[in-house]
Amino acid sequence: MSTLTASLQIRHGMISDCKDLLTVYQTTRWQQHSYTQVQQVKDEHRGRMFRRFNWLVAEVDDHVIGETVFAMTERVGVGLAGVFLNLDIDVRHQKRGIGRELVRSAENAMAQMGAVRAFADAPPSSYNFWMKMGYFATRPVVVLKRSTAGMRGRLPRDITMREISDFYHTPRALRFSNLAHVGATLRLAREILDLGKTGMIVEFRSHESVAGVGVVCQRTSSIGEFVVDAMPGHEEHFLAMTGRIARLARRMRLKEIYSKVPVDAVNLFTDSTGWVEDEENLVPVTRLL
Ligand SMILES: CC(C)(COP(=O)(O)OP(=O)(O)OC[C@H]1O[C@@H](n2cnc3c(N)ncnc32)[C@H](O)[C@@H]1OP(=O)(O)O)[C@@H](O)C(=O)NCCC(=O)NCCS
Repeated sequence: MSTLTASLQIRHGMISDCKDLLTVYQTTRWQQHSYTQVQQVKDEHRGRMFRRFNWLVAEVDDHVIGETVFAMTERVGVGLAGVFLNLDIDVRHQKRGIGRELVRSAENAMAQMGAVRAFADAPPSSYNFWMKMGYFATRPVVVLKRSTAGMRGRLPRDITMREISDFYHTPRALRFSNLAHVGATLRLAREILDLGKTGMIVEFRSHESVAGVGVVCQRTSSIGEFVVDAMPGHEEHFLAMTGRIARLARRMRLKEIYSKVPVDAVNLFTDSTGWVEDEENLVPVTRLL
C-alpha cells in the first residue's frame, strides 16, 4: 500500500524548480541521458512550444521530487486528448503514491480543458504503474526505417507544402493526430522549435485547409527521425507526403530515415518498397477521462 506524504503539494512548475529536477532526473533518467547541469533541465522547460504545454510538479518539504509535462492534442475519432510527455518521480520517493497524485492532478486539468481521453507511452518498467492507474495498452507502435534514396511520391496539384517556423501562426497542423502515433508530431517538432535540433517542419495545405503535416529531425550525421500525418480526407496522399519528407531529409544529407508508426498504420507504407520493421519497446497506454 502507498503511504502518501502529508506535506505533498502538487503545483505548476517554475523554472527555479529545475535545480531540484536535475536530482530527480539523475535518479530516473540515468540510462538515457547524462544530466550534469541545471541548464540542461532549464533548456527542456523553455521555448515557444513548451509554453503551450502543461507542467506540474510534486513538492515535499520544500523540495521538488517529481514532475509531469503534458500536452493537449486533437485526436481524430476521439476528440480532444491529453498526452503525457513525461512523468518522473525521484527513485527515493517512489511507491508512496506521488506518481498517482501527479497523474490524477494532470487528468483533472486535462478534463477541465475538455479532454475526453489521456495517452502515455509507458516504458515496460512503468507498465504496471499505468495499469494500476486504470490505463490499458492501445495501438502498439513499430519503428519503420528506410533509405532516403529512390522514394517517390507525387502530390496532386492542389496540395501545397510550406515550411512552418512559427508555431503560433499554424497551431492546427501540429495539434491534430490521425494516422500518426498520438503526440508524435508535437514531440518531434518541439525538438526543432524549442531544443534547437536540426530539422524541418512542413505543413501540407489543400486550398484553405490543412491536409497534413511532416517533421524530420536529424539524429546522427546520416540518420533522421520523421513523422507524417494526414488529415481525414487526405489519407490517400499520406505516402506522397512521406515521399516529400524523404526528399527533404535527402536535402539535409540524411541517408536513412525512421518513424515510430502505429502498427495499424504500417499498411500505409506497403505501397512503397524498402521499409524495414524494427521493434519499439514503449507501450502506448490510454484511459478514458
Ligand atoms: C512510474 C513512476 C512514475 C511511478 O511513480 P510512483 O510515485 O512510484 O507511483 P505510486 O507510488 O503513485 O504508485 C501507484 C501504484 O502503482 C504501483 N506501482 C508503482 N510503480 C510500480 C512498478 N514499477 N511496478 C508495479 N507497481 C507499481 C504502486 O505500488 C501503487 O500501487 P497501489 O496503489 O496498489 O499501492 C515512477 O516509478 C518513475 O518515475 N519511474 C521512472 C520514469 C518513468 O518510467 N516514467 C513513466 C514515463 S511515461
